[in-house]
Amino acid sequence: MLILGIESSCDETAASVVEDGRRVLSNVVASQVEEHRKYGGVVPEIASRRHAEAISDVVRRALDEAGVTLEQIDGIAVTYAPGLIGALLVGVSFAKGLALATGKPLIPVHHLRSHIASNYLAHPDLKPPFLCLVVSGGHSHIVQVEDYTKFAVIGRTRDDAAGECYDKAARAMGMPYPGGVALDKLAHEGDPTAFPLPRPRVEGSEYDFSFSGLKTAVINRLHNAEQKGEEINKADLCASFQHTVTELLVGNTMKAAADLGADTVVLAGGVSANSGLRAGMEAACAERGYGLYAPPLSLCGDNGAMVAAQGYYELLSGHTAGMELNAIASLPITEE
Ligand code: KG4
Ligand code: ZN
Repeated sequence: MLILGIESSCDETAASVVEDGRRVLSNVVASQVEEHRKYGGVVPEIASRRHAEAISDVVRRALDEAGVTLEQIDGIAVTYAPGLIGALLVGVSFAKGLALATGKPLIPVHHLRSHIASNYLAHPDLKPPFLCLVVSGGHSHIVQVEDYTKFAVIGRTRDDAAGECYDKAARAMGMPYPGGVALDKLAHEGDPTAFPLPRPRVEGSEYDFSFSGLKTAVINRLHNAEQKGEEINKADLCASFQHTVTELLVGNTMKAAADLGADTVVLAGGVSANSGLRAGMEAACAERGYGLYAPPLSLCGDNGAMVAAQGYYELLSGHTAGMELNAIASLPITEE
C-alpha cells in the first residue's frame, strides 16, 4: 500500500511516499530555517506563506522521486495537529484538495504519533508495545505505545519542552536558532561536571519534567559572569547543561520503564538527534537489558516519511477524515 505523507506543522514543508508504513520511496524536505534564523525563532506568519509557496512543488517532487503517480497512491496522510495553526492549515488544505480531486482516503495524522513512527522506517523488527520518549521543540512526553494507534501518556513537561530549553540556552550563549545542534557539538569539548545545575523534580508526578528552571540557571550563570567581567567557558556550560538534561530525560524514562515492566525503549523527535541523549539512553538500557531504538539522524527532525508511515497504520485502523477536517493547534496524542 502506498501512502503520500504531507507535513507542514512548523518550519519544514515536507512530503514523502512510503510503502506499507515501512519502506521510504521518496522523502523531500524544504526547510525554512535560514529565513527564521534572522528572527531567532519561527515566525508563524512567514512559515505559513513559505509553506503555501513550496507545497505543490514538494509534493510533486515526492511523487516523481518515488516514481509513482497520484493515481497509484492509496491514501493521503497529513499532519493536522498539533503545531502552528496557519502552517498546519496549508498542509491540511492541500491534502484535502488532493483527496477531493482523486477520491483517495484522507488520513489525519497527529504530529507526535508521526515522530514515533519514524522508527518504523528504520527498524523493520520494531512493533508495539514499547515505551517512547518523544522530545521535540514543542513537546517532551513519555508515551506508552500500546499499539500503532493506541497511546497512553505516562509523563510530560510541565513547562518548556526539551528542544525549547536547548534552543533558549543556546541562544543565551549566542548561538543561532535552532541552537540545539550547535550546543550538542560544543558540549563535546567541555567538562560536564564544571557547572552544577539544578535537576528540578516535579511535585506529584515522578515521570513529569520541568525544564524552565534549568534554562534560567544557565541564563543566570551567564549574567553573573558578565556582571563580574569573568570569561565563562561555554564548552563547559554546554557540557554541563547537556549532561543535566540527559540525566533528567534518561532518569524519568528508566523509572517509567521499570514501573511499567517495559523492555523496549524508543526515542523520537528532533531532540532524539542529541548525542548525549543517545549515548546516555544506550548506556542505561544496556545496563538493564532493555532494547533501544532511535530514528536515524535523517529522520529525527520533521519530515513527510514519518507522516506517511503513521498514516498507513491510521488507515488500517479506519482513521480517515472527510472534507470537514480542520487543523488543530493543540491536541493530546491520545485523541482521535
Ligand atoms: O521535532 P522537531 O524537528 O520539531 C518539532 O516538532 O518541534 O524538533 C526540533 C527541535 C529543536 O528545538 C532543535 O533545537 C532540537 O529539536 N534539536 C536538538 C538537536 N537536533 C535538533 N536538540 C539537541 N541536540 C540536537 N542534536
Ligand atoms: Zn516535530
